[in-house]
Amino acid sequence: MSSYFYEPCNGHGLPHNPFNAIVGPRPIGWISSISKNGVRNLAPYSFFNAFNYLPPIVGFSSIGAKDTLHNVQETGEFVWNLATKPLAEAMNATCAAVGPEVDEFELAGLNAAPSRLITTPRVAESPVSFECKLTQLLQLQDRCGTSVSTWLVLGEVIGVHIATELLKEGNYDTAAAQPILRGGGQADYFVIESRQLFEIFRPR
Ligand SMILES: Cc1cc2nc3c(=O)[nH]c(=O)nc-3n(C[C@H](O)[C@H](O)[C@H](O)COP(=O)(O)O)c2cc1C
Repeated sequence: MSSYFYEPCNGHGLPHNPFNAIVGPRPIGWISSISKNGVRNLAPYSFFNAFNYLPPIVGFSSIGAKDTLHNVQETGEFVWNLATKPLAEAMNATCAAVGPEVDEFELAGLNAAPSRLITTPRVAESPVSFECKLTQLLQLQDRCGTSVSTWLVLGEVIGVHIATELLKEGNYDTAAAQPILRGGGQADYFVIESRQLFEIFRPR
């Protein structure tokens, strides 16, 4: 098998950096936060994932110090909201590079629903939200130990909201929510549908 090889520190030599097309599709951390002055903020982060089961811990990377990072530093909390196919355009609207004074719920025409355990609101239209408390904030380093301008924000999920229609006989139906995931390139997304489901049981 012939293969293309590159060292990222010397560039990829391709029309688009393939890294996030390869590590993909990625779940989207659609993160709501508030500033210390109470301005609501909402933005998508696809360098996002779950990192622990119990207690549940999720994390996202802020590539550059962005409003969400500042807000989480100030308040110690954030909400993760599920981005779905019907909410794709609204999610995309919330990535606009606007100042910290802009309420991105209003910008995207979304409603805010109160959280139960924290001050940060949820996206009312999203069928699943996690109320999170900041646990660790790590500035990333390269292999030489030099700081990179990227911060990994980790938070414990202390409250979970699930639209009851997504619970089928008590089991969460992943595909029913039509979650969207980020691919590579400038605009690639994927959607999860039930026909993509297959099962493999672990060896005993
Ligand atoms: C689908 C999607 C995924 C994104 N993922 C990230 C990410 O993982 N990290 C990041 O720093 N920016 C990411 N961005 C860009 C941010 O959403 C954008 O910079 C936004 O303005 C940040 O908002 P804030 O300053 O209100 O936090 C992404 C944008 C989109 C549309």
